[in-house]
Amino acid sequence: MMNQDELKREVARAAISYVVEGEIVGVGTGSTANFFIDELAQIKHKIKAAVASSEVTANRLRSHGILVLDLNEVDHMPVYIDGADEITATGAMIKGGGAALTREKIVASVASQFICIADGSKLVDRLGRFPLPIEVIPMASQAVIRQLNRMGGEARLRLKEGKVLVTDNGNYIVDVHGLTIEDPIAVEAQINNIVGVVTVGLFAAHGADVCLLGTAQGVQTLRFDQTHAVGT
Ligand code: A5P
Repeated sequence: MMNQDELKREVARAAISYVVEGEIVGVGTGSTANFFIDELAQIKHKIKAAVASSEVTANRLRSHGILVLDLNEVDHMPVYIDGADEITATGAMIKGGGAALTREKIVASVASQFICIADGSKLVDRLGRFPLPIEVIPMASQAVIRQLNRMGGEARLRLKEGKVLVTDNGNYIVDVHGLTIEDPIAVEAQINNIVGVVTVGLFAAHGADVCLLGTAQGVQTLRFDQTHAVGT
């Protein structure tokens, strides 16, 4: 029986077949994305460059000798490949466990397809067991926390080593525990509307197009219809 890391490595390897030769690839953040970066290094001569969703990912890509472009230099890319904290059978996701959700959503928005790579434990019937990450403007954090608590969750500022975590963008992360997310598209829109919120870690209005799911039976490919997605 494969352990979780082996399943992550398997899906990372499977994702290589979605990388388009001679093109730019968008690269996510987290332990599964790290396995993907290591696989990408093996075919780096076949791609034009990468766009990173965090400083950590940019550094890992560069350490493998992969050219990293600023998103402002790029007008299209065929695929964005990233992990998720939770994903449903319709491709809606919770992301942001690694605090990189804003850049992840931005890079994904430029890509034609979102390829999610995840071990089987990430597939859920309903989102919300994993605390929902939200990036907020620091001076708005307590005001946003009060609004989120009114929605029925228990919102807390994310700490790292006893201090408030600061994102790559200079903002804070609020994690909302105990939210029951019946309608992810509606909740994404509702939280996006709170003043002071930069990004909500719900990727539902535009979810994954494909999920490569690592299971004991091998890598399963789930395909989702994103024709409802905003901007398609
Ligand atoms: C990073 O901010 C997240 O969105 C990651 O994609 C998510 O936390 C998945 O990470 P793992 O691959 O480490 O589970």
